[in-house]
Amino acid sequence: MAGEVPDLDRAALEALQLERLRDTLRRAQAHVPYYRRAFEDAGVTPDDLHTLADLARFPFTTKADLRDNYPFGMFAVPRGQVARVHASSGTTGKPTVVGYTAEDIDTWAEVMARSIRAAGGRPGDLVHVAYGYGLFTGGLGAHYGAERLGCTVVPVSGGMTERQVQLILDFAPRVIMVTPSYFLAILDEMEAQGVDPRTTSLEVGIFGAEPWTDEMRRAVEARSGIRAVDIYGLSEVMGPGVSQEAWETQDGLHVWEDHFLPEVIDPVTLEVLPDGEEGELVFTSLTKQAMPVIRYRTRDLTRLLPGTAFPAFRRMQKVTGRTDDMMIVRGVNVFPSQVEEQILAVEGLTPHYVCVLTRPGNLDELTVQVEAAAPLHDAALGDVLARRIKDRIGVTARVEVLAPHALERSLGKARRIRDER
Ligand code: DLL
Repeated sequence: MAGEVPDLDRAALEALQLERLRDTLRRAQAHVPYYRRAFEDAGVTPDDLHTLADLARFPFTTKADLRDNYPFGMFAVPRGQVARVHASSGTTGKPTVVGYTAEDIDTWAEVMARSIRAAGGRPGDLVHVAYGYGLFTGGLGAHYGAERLGCTVVPVSGGMTERQVQLILDFAPRVIMVTPSYFLAILDEMEAQGVDPRTTSLEVGIFGAEPWTDEMRRAVEARSGIRAVDIYGLSEVMGPGVSQEAWETQDGLHVWEDHFLPEVIDPVTLEVLPDGEEGELVFTSLTKQAMPVIRYRTRDLTRLLPGTAFPAFRRMQKVTGRTDDMMIVRGVNVFPSQVEEQILAVEGLTPHYVCVLTRPGNLDELTVQVEAAAPLHDAALGDVLARRIKDRIGVTARVEVLAPHALERSLGKARRIRDER
């Protein structure tokens, strides 16, 4: 059946990884001039790989390396064999372009079908896809996976929130795939239309593309009656479907390790860390044909844990933030997800928020803009949040409690940080 998780024990999985890794390194060296040079500079060849641990001798790949080879320089097959390209937007400069052969698209559909199944989706389900369609991998990735699993796909894409609600009410989907922040906007719209979100047909939400906390999960589940599970991925490695949280355990994301080999490194020393320690996640693709990536530095922070629902496959803990999103406020490191946890603990505030960084004098200042749940709210709400942030995170933040709906809604990935320095 489509989306079946391979029945392998850990030893068999590692043997498969080693074989696929060797093949990937050889293809990268033979067909991508960038990797040929990078391996030469590092003094390694694919023949140096005897065990999985030997991968640590190979060079990393960064987003800058992909940009330097814009648009098609990282492809390992002639452009004519590339069936599709996607690109990640990036806030500055050129986008990062990624390519897929027909075989890659097939693999992607299969791992996405696996993800949707692990998330609790079943053949025959109606799946509402509200991830954006286009160069972003979310929409089409979800679409092909849901089709592969044998679902009825509704390719809504992001935006036109009123219509999203209409389609949910009329078509009665069991599964919705959407960024968690946009799902909040959909819930707001339902309530504005007088619809109780707990009465809709939705049972499963497959949420990803941005960090979101367990506190957000609990809040969304309570408000909508669905079960919310986390999906992770990135275009450079494939798109959504690199790792997936299981519906029954909701305890972090199983990495589909037969296709994507994870490592966690210390972002400063670049040493590989043992499982269980937190650091930067690094991926090597094991089966991608059009654009293999070797030790791609994701900038995402997490740790690797043993498998549970799928015992041979390691889990990654929910991503708490990206190294790029770390705000240093007077020497204290703060991630938006830490602020989110505190906001959700204060009754009367909504999960819509932005962290604004300014530097009025020489010192950084953090202002948290957050919305009140009701127009008439307790004037002390802001103080309550500011105190929690000080006590639990250790930074002084100004809190601005805004009127309901004052903050702009994102249709896709939410921007939690506004840097005005
Ligand atoms: O966001 C792929 C995707 C689409 C994943 C839909 C899940 C659902 P990119 O646009 O290349 O690809 O952005 C990748 O988004 O490095 C993380 O920083 C972040 N990200 C993705 N999923 C999660 C998640 C897609 N579940 C970047 N939790 C990654 C936290 C996530 N961050």
